[in-house]
Amino acid sequence: MTDPFDFQAQTARFAVIGNPVAHSRSPQIHQMFAQQFGIALEYGRIQVDAGGFEQAVSHFTARGGAGLNVTLPFKLEARQLCGRPGNTVSARAQNAGAVNTLRFEGGAVFGDNTDGAGLVRDIEHNLGMQIAGKRVLLLGAGGAARGVLQPLSQCAPKNITVANRTAQKARALAKDFGGGIRGCGLGEVKGEVFDLVIHGSSAGLQGEAPDIDANCLRGAFAYDMLYAPAGETTAFIQWALASGAARAGDGLGMLVEQAAESFYLWHRRRPDTAPVLGALRSES
Ligand code: ATR
Repeated sequence: MTDPFDFQAQTARFAVIGNPVAHSRSPQIHQMFAQQFGIALEYGRIQVDAGGFEQAVSHFTARGGAGLNVTLPFKLEARQLCGRPGNTVSARAQNAGAVNTLRFEGGAVFGDNTDGAGLVRDIEHNLGMQIAGKRVLLLGAGGAARGVLQPLSQCAPKNITVANRTAQKARALAKDFGGGIRGCGLGEVKGEVFDLVIHGSSAGLQGEAPDIDANCLRGAFAYDMLYAPAGETTAFIQWALASGAARAGDGLGMLVEQAAESFYLWHRRRPDTAPVLGALRSES
């Protein structure tokens, strides 16, 4: 029983779980959001080895944890956890096939995926490009690309092409979503024109850009779902601008916006993301 004379309010506990998480900016982002509302919370980092995800989650909930952000490589395992009897998952996480946000309530787990909403909000609200009516090229057909496909298609673009190194994977992904999404190999978009080119492959992790015809970038808005340290640009953005892209944006805004969606899921309040994004950008 709670001691009625204990005036020390219980601080809600949150964390990001993944591997690696040492450089995750989520703790800092969530603390900045919480300050906007005068909410006191703990937000930590939990690094787990392969095979240890579910045990770490039970450990966290047993110690009163209220919510987790899930990052690589555990987003699929988090989806599986949410599929167990008694647990639930949002429609958007189901479509994405991955969960990046967990909320714990009375022993049950609710899973959501805020990545796609974060991407759309960054492009439309922060960067000022309306996706409706645009020709969209999405590069990559792995988990990151799958996670944003449905929120992108809900913005009513003119069309969406998913191009991937392994063409068959892009075709299968496009077929899964239906609704006129086309899947193809990187070479098949040669000579085509796009308004918005989103890089969602993991090529950037090795400092590479996918091998597509540079003309596809000419005049386009190039968006990289990855982000670079302050003062640097990602390999994809460097290549896109050199290829004639009109504008470019990196994934730091997406990171902050997906965090804001998670924050809303836990606290039912929408933080102002602009000052938080500004603070992260100005850090060296
Ligand atoms: P994630 O969850 O980050 O999307 P993933 O599911 O392993 O990771 O998918 C990685 C994606 O990046 C795939 O689309 C992969 O292409 P393949 O399907 O052909 O493997 C793509 N990718 C990785 N390295 C790449 C490179 N050097 N050039 C182009 N695409 C690359």
